[in-house]
Amino acid sequence: MTRPNEVEARAEALVSRMTLPEKAAQMMQVPYSTVTREEALAWARLGAGSFLHVLGDDARELQAAALSTRLSIPLLFGIDAIHGHGLNENATIFPSQLAAACSFDRALVQAMGRATAREVATDGLHWTFSPVLCLGRDTRWGRIDETFGEDPYLAGEMGAAVIRGYQGDSLGADDSILACAKHYIGYGEAVGARDACDTEMTYRKLREVFLPPFEKAVRAGCATAMTAYGSIDSTPFTACEKVLRGILKEELGFDGILVTDWDNVQALVTRQFAAANIGEASRMAAEAGNDMVMTSLGFYEAAIALVEKGLLDERVIDDAVRRILRIKLRMGLFEKPEKKGVPGCFACEEHLSICEALARESVVLLKNNGALPLNDIKSVAVIGPNADDIRAQYGDWTYFSHPLPDPAREPKRPYATVLEGVRELADESGMRVSYAHGCGILDGSEAELEEAVLAAQNCDAVVLVLGDTLDQHGEGKDRADLALSSAQLTLFRRLRALKKPLAVVLVASKPLCAAEVAQGADALLCAFNGGMFGGRAVAEAVFGRLNPSGKLPISFPRHSGQLPVYYNYLPGWHGGKYMDLPETPLFAFGEGLSYTRYEYSNLTFDTKTFLAAVDVKNAGGMDGTETVQVYFRDLVSSILTPVKQLIAFERVFLKAGDTKRVAFSLCKDDFSLVTPDERRVTEPGDFVLMVGASSKDEDLLNVTFTL
Ligand code: NOJ
Repeated sequence: MTRPNEVEARAEALVSRMTLPEKAAQMMQVPYSTVTREEALAWARLGAGSFLHVLGDDARELQAAALSTRLSIPLLFGIDAIHGHGLNENATIFPSQLAAACSFDRALVQAMGRATAREVATDGLHWTFSPVLCLGRDTRWGRIDETFGEDPYLAGEMGAAVIRGYQGDSLGADDSILACAKHYIGYGEAVGARDACDTEMTYRKLREVFLPPFEKAVRAGCATAMTAYGSIDSTPFTACEKVLRGILKEELGFDGILVTDWDNVQALVTRQFAAANIGEASRMAAEAGNDMVMTSLGFYEAAIALVEKGLLDERVIDDAVRRILRIKLRMGLFEKPEKKGVPGCFACEEHLSICEALARESVVLLKNNGALPLNDIKSVAVIGPNADDIRAQYGDWTYFSHPLPDPAREPKRPYATVLEGVRELADESGMRVSYAHGCGILDGSEAELEEAVLAAQNCDAVVLVLGDTLDQHGEGKDRADLALSSAQLTLFRRLRALKKPLAVVLVASKPLCAAEVAQGADALLCAFNGGMFGGRAVAEAVFGRLNPSGKLPISFPRHSGQLPVYYNYLPGWHGGKYMDLPETPLFAFGEGLSYTRYEYSNLTFDTKTFLAAVDVKNAGGMDGTETVQVYFRDLVSSILTPVKQLIAFERVFLKAGDTKRVAFSLCKDDFSLVTPDERRVTEPGDFVLMVGASSKDEDLLNVTFTL
């Protein structure tokens, strides 16, 4: 890798040698999926800076063309390796971000990033458009599965961890790739969860709730960021100088590449009607601080014309190009345009074991009246639309879905659906397994329902796997109604009527509205898109081979009409209640049971050292891992502050009967708020520190203190 001073000097020297067209081309990121091979080669020869969605020999051909240009500036290849390098069928498919967040496990999420980087680099690529640091607060949004959930602290911790994994110790390493903090900013907060609509948000709120994960990403050295679609208070993000150049680059000191999202520049003309033509749009986007332009190919000529006519300061272009070259130099691409990666690492044992561990930690037990684990039975019926559907289990961003979909492709082993996992484990103990589909996620028939009832009647217990499907989530697939679709509820009712032990598993991209199921089932497991081993992990939990330790990174609504619902809401006049719903969510942020019982006691907090500590005892009969969560509330503040806010968490392993004292080193800033004039301050006064097993009051010990 090139040393910092040398990087700056070389970038500067190159910029000064480049012609205006060369610089404008360097700002282009060309979509290989929507141009012809000849057009792509022409762009490479023009000196384009980057391509996205190109793999293997096609990428090599483009790189050779780029290297044969006057200045031989290497290309950057970007890909959506969102939960693993999933567009490549040989890759390890990890749990989705939302599933991974259930682990609250920084180290394992970092390991997932590392493994993904190795596979992406081995494919000759340099850059993943990950992680998503948007918050998932209105779960009707189609991209909830891509988030780390609803909380800024958790999203920041998970985001920083995966970024460290992708980028490794040095960007120059053969197995390091660029991370991309996206979508900057507030994308998930679009009104009504309608994808890319306006975000009606104040800057105060932006800084308090939505900026912290991006701040952490920048501190973790994230080399790139992506501008969100949409707008903030009617200003398109793409044209929002305050957000892009001001907050991200100048305030946070982000010195990497800010790339637009797909066609953002053109969309200023065609979707947002904020610019009359591509020239105006290009000027707005460049001035606002976008360095690289994804797919809006008209930017190239427009930018040249703008500078030539004196409508755009060439220094704006220079700054963008300098940033792009800086990253290419840091990656050592001028010396070695193609990374070696780690030959043989695709779905290797080490990567699979990280994938498996994360799948196991992402299973969340939400209810259990003692039905689980299933023991001492001779037969089990596995039923439901998602019991044996690997596509639903994987979720978005694999070779089955977009952006290079091939839904008919045969899934690559190894993987295990819930049914396969149950069969494997049942075989070991000689248990009989019956299976019935029961109904589809999008359709159902009486015959299927009857077949399911019959299968269940002949077994000692039922595992019913419900959820959603690829057609119900992803970009542009927001849902107005999150109730269980098709005949899923009918299927549940018919099976419930049999009065057999009934465990329900939700294999879904997001929290669905399943209040009746939660109430009526004997046990409920949440398994968001768990990747290759998601089904096996559920089976292990069902039979008690695994003591569930996952915690919800996101609240479960009782009803779609309750959305958005999240734990860190501002106190309201009438308790935030609808007349026909309790004010609480169905399941709250941080919730997650296990087959053992944890007891919390002896909470202390020292305001001089900011050290908090609590005793946690495994008071049950099974070893387990608990995630201890720390929240605070500012009791009286100059503006409304959340009823509680997570500021720390730690996973702790406890053998049955063991007690550990768990300590947290906090600081004054942890108790801060953002003032209406956008300053972060900690106001003097009284606070409550809360420590416990979830965000629910009844799960928290508390201590009051004064600052
Ligand atoms: C659009 C999506 O919003 C973004 O997340 C993704 O990285 C790009 N397309 C490239 O596929």
